Amino acid sequence: MLHTAYITGADRGLGLALTKSLLCRGYQVFAGSYLPEWPELSELMSEYPVNLVIVPLDVSDDAAVSAAAALIASHTESLDLLINNAGIFPQHTPTILEDLDFEIIKRLYNTNTLGPLRVTHSVINLLLKGQLKKLVNISSEAGSISANHRIGNFGYTMSKAALNMQSSILQLHLKEFGVKVLNIHPGYVRSYMSGKFNEDGTVEAVDSAAGILKLVDTEVDLNGPLYLDYEGNPMGW
Ligand SMILES: NC(=O)c1ccc[n+]([C@@H]2O[C@H](COP(=O)([O-])OP(=O)(O)OC[C@H]3O[C@@H](n4cnc5c(N)ncnc54)[C@H](OP(=O)(O)O)[C@@H]3O)[C@@H](O)[C@H]2O)c1
Repeated sequence: MLHTAYITGADRGLGLALTKSLLCRGYQVFAGSYLPEWPELSELMSEYPVNLVIVPLDVSDDAAVSAAAALIASHTESLDLLINNAGIFPQHTPTILEDLDFEIIKRLYNTNTLGPLRVTHSVINLLLKGQLKKLVNISSEAGSISANHRIGNFGYTMSKAALNMQSSILQLHLKEFGVKVLNIHPGYVRSYMSGKFNEDGTVEAVDSAAGILKLVDTEVDLNGPLYLDYEGNPMGW
């Protein structure tokens, strides 16, 4: 049977690599698009006119998330896999002794923390009806409190630490429904996180995506480790 997946932030970077890999495996993919002017996702339509469904999506906006969920529900009665990938990393890394821009910090929370919660909430009934029942939150090493080495960068780090808590709560609750939750650090990815392509990244998006999908395929222990890097190494909370 055709598997279905919903991926947020699919226009470029890791989200696009995950989308391509899943299409290649024969999934039907609902790909959240935030950047309509970025061509790669729409170019994929010619290769996968049936299995790729582009879904306009701003995860920071309640109405947009609801509209996306309604669009998905008009195509399918169930979702096998949800990957909350969309995230932002604006260049705002001051310490407590410098100027803090609380509007940027609120935007980070609204996108990186509340975005996944909104999206998961909007399609939870579809996910509960899925065959695979896999929920992946793309977190970061920056959300690890035990491994913290930073003296600033409050917004991004706190938004990912709070996402980690979200994943933990979801795992505890949803395991009784057979849902496997994974909270994954994707590596230092060569992507567009800061608005332009990061040549310094140490992992290609396609390799990070391959590692994440391997974990999706193999991780079946509902109580098993939750916070992992893309190679499957456990991360410290
Ligand atoms: N790159 C890394 O080294 C790294 C490390 C740790 C964790 N991560 C996490 O990995 C995930 C994927 O990031 P990436 O590296 O692939 O970065 P990316 O290339 O910037 O991709 C993120 C995608 O999400 C989109 N997006 C931004 N705001 C959105 C919104 N409000 N609603 C929906 N989509 C939105 C982005 O659009 P725009 O390009 O227009 O912003 C972009 O298409 C993020 O959650 C990030 O925090 C990345």
